[in-house]
This record gives sequence, structure tokens and C-alpha cells, in this order.
Amino acid sequence: MAAERFGALPPMGWNSWNTFTWDISEALLRDVADIFVSEGYKAAGYEYIVIDDCWSLKQRDEAGNLVPDPAKFPSGMKALSDYIHAKGLKFGMYSCVGTHTCAGYPGSFEHEFQDAAQFAEWGVDFLKYDYCYKPKQINGALLYKRMSLALKNCGRDILFSACNWGADDVFLWIHETGAHMYRSTLDIQDNWESVKRLAISQLDKACYTGAYRHNDMDMLIVGIYGGSNNGWIGHIQGGCTDTEYKTHFSLWALMGSPLMIGCDVRNANQTAKNILLNRDILAINQDIECRGVYRLEPDWFNTEEVFILVKTLSTGELAIGFFNLSDEQKALSVSFWDLGLPYSSGISLSLYDCWAHEDMGTYQQQAAPIVPAHDCVVVRAKLNKS
Ligand code: GAL
Repeated sequence: MAAERFGALPPMGWNSWNTFTWDISEALLRDVADIFVSEGYKAAGYEYIVIDDCWSLKQRDEAGNLVPDPAKFPSGMKALSDYIHAKGLKFGMYSCVGTHTCAGYPGSFEHEFQDAAQFAEWGVDFLKYDYCYKPKQINGALLYKRMSLALKNCGRDILFSACNWGADDVFLWIHETGAHMYRSTLDIQDNWESVKRLAISQLDKACYTGAYRHNDMDMLIVGIYGGSNNGWIGHIQGGCTDTEYKTHFSLWALMGSPLMIGCDVRNANQTAKNILLNRDILAINQDIECRGVYRLEPDWFNTEEVFILVKTLSTGELAIGFFNLSDEQKALSVSFWDLGLPYSSGISLSLYDCWAHEDMGTYQQQAAPIVPAHDCVVVRAKLNKS
């Protein structure tokens, strides 16, 4: 099979915002690149290292160019991208459709082609493009089309990551603009209520995700444990438990979201690493066909907080996530009939547990795992002819 073009699969990487917000530097990004290689993130498929907002000076130069803040990036962006590329990784940056970014730095409005050329010159591979300070009279889709055209004609492959927080029914029009992924939610916070709220808000949007049109549920909070320097995202929120981070990661992976790590990987504990580097879960997210999940028809247990998601995989297997976001333990049963297996077929399913990394045995007609509160069971189901 031909290698897929960039952007076909949900991008995987790291973004500075969730933990560091304004407190970014070239030293931090170089450290992340080193750790991606030495601690197995690169080998697991994480490749984009992205600086978010607050990287430039507050004014453009006399020629109208964006200027990296020399206190944060004294060697300049080209040197940083060269460092990241030398590790076999990719470099991402951030700008905004409006006159300013959300944190008040210059945005790309009316500078789209100039900025895209500049990003190409710096060796940028990924651009996150925010929605603040959008001139009210101009249609948002048009502004994404502008930057998309600028990027596609800048002479370099740059993955285009739109970020308009799900506003203006973005799922209906973003794909036609040329973006590869699009934020479909408000900003994540490092707490369980936020994970729940974002996941539930996207359950009816699964049909809009797919290759080159990834529904971005926002950067991951796995491993932050309340350690963000931004009170709104993190330290006031207090973080999540390990179980909640596992469920968050499983939801984002199954629902086809890009997987952009948001914690300080320099200090990630072993549990966070085990979650982020779980190859069985990553394989579901990175399945070549990128199908959206479907939610099993309402059953007696099926509520807004308790549900089963199924993803059809290119291998003919099914990925099945049993999610219990409620505060009490539940048994969640799936009838194989509802997966498209008539009882008359005699087909059984061999289940493999993607968190325990072990076979669960062969099941006829139904399976009903017990799922503790805030937890999930994710299986890969293989069909066996009788
Ligand atoms: C928000 C965006 C965040 C982050 C922030 C930077 O609009 O959703 O992910 O990029 O701006 O100011």
C-alpha cells in the first residue's frame, strides 16, 4: 500500500499550551525532542512538537514579519526546527485568523501568505490556527480557506490544524477549506468534569471525522495532575486520577482525535507514560481507514454517561470501548447482534483487552464486562467462524 500522505491519520505529538502557556523557550522544546527519542514517544508514533501561543514579539517588524521573542528563542526558529528535524521529528507553530492571537500577539489576518512563506522558511511542518480577534464582518470559513491556500502553496508540506472551538457549526464546512484537523470543543481543563463534558459533546459528531478531517477534541491532559502554570487549565482544577486519565485517553483515541500530549514529558511519571505509550490503544486511533465510532443503540444501561462505542477497523476487527463516566460501577453488555452479527451466523468473538494486554477468551452472542466508576474497558474483537 502506498504510504499515506501527511494528515491522513490523526496527528500525534506534543503541544506546549496545557502545561506551560506563556512560559515557553527553545530549551524546553529541545528537551521535549530529546525525550521523545530517548523515552519511546517517537517510536510509538508521536512526531509533531508544537509551540502554541506567546512565541513572538507583540509587534511585527518594519517589513511586516512576525518576530520570534529573542528572550524565549535566542537561536531563532530555523535553528530550533533544524534541531527537531535532526531527531527525525516535526516542528509545529501557532497563529490565528484574527488581528491578534488569543493571548494578544500578532495574528495572521491580512498577512496569511507572508506568514505562510515565513513558516516554510523556518521549516515548520504543522500550523495550529486559532479563532480570536476575527474581524466580525468576515466569514470564518473564508479565513481558514485563505491560510489553507497559503500553506498549500508555500512550497512545504504543512499540516493545517484549525482551532475554532466548535463554533459556527465548523464540522459542516471545515473540510472543504483544506484543514487536516479541526478543534471541535472549547478548551480542555485538567479535571474529570471537563473530560466528560468534551467527550459527551462529541458523541453525535463522530460521523464528521475521518482521514484528513480529524475531529480535534483538544490536547491531552494525561499526566498533568494539576501541574499547569495556568490556573484556569490546571492548578486550580486539581487534575485527574490515573483511572480518569486512562479513560480520557481511551475516549480521545477511539473517537479519532489527534493525540497531542499536554503534560511536561520531562517529568511524566510511569503511569502517565504507560497510558500515553499504550500501543494497543494507539493502533486503534491510527487505523488506516480512520472510521468514526458508532454508539450502540440505547440499551438499559445506556445513558449520557454510560455507553459503548464501536470502531470498525481496516483488519475486519472491531474496537469496542465500554465507557462508564458515572460515579458507580456498572455492567455494560453488548449483544453481538447489535454489531452486525446475526445469531444464525454462529460467529463468536475473541476479545483482547487493550489495557491489560491479554486475551479475554472467546464469547458467543454477548459480552458484559464490569466497569468501575470513571473507568473503561477497551477491547479488540476478532471474528471467528464456527
Ligand atoms: C485558545 C485555544 C487554546 C490555546 C490558546 C492560546 O483559543 O483554544 O488551545 O491555543 O487559545 O492563547
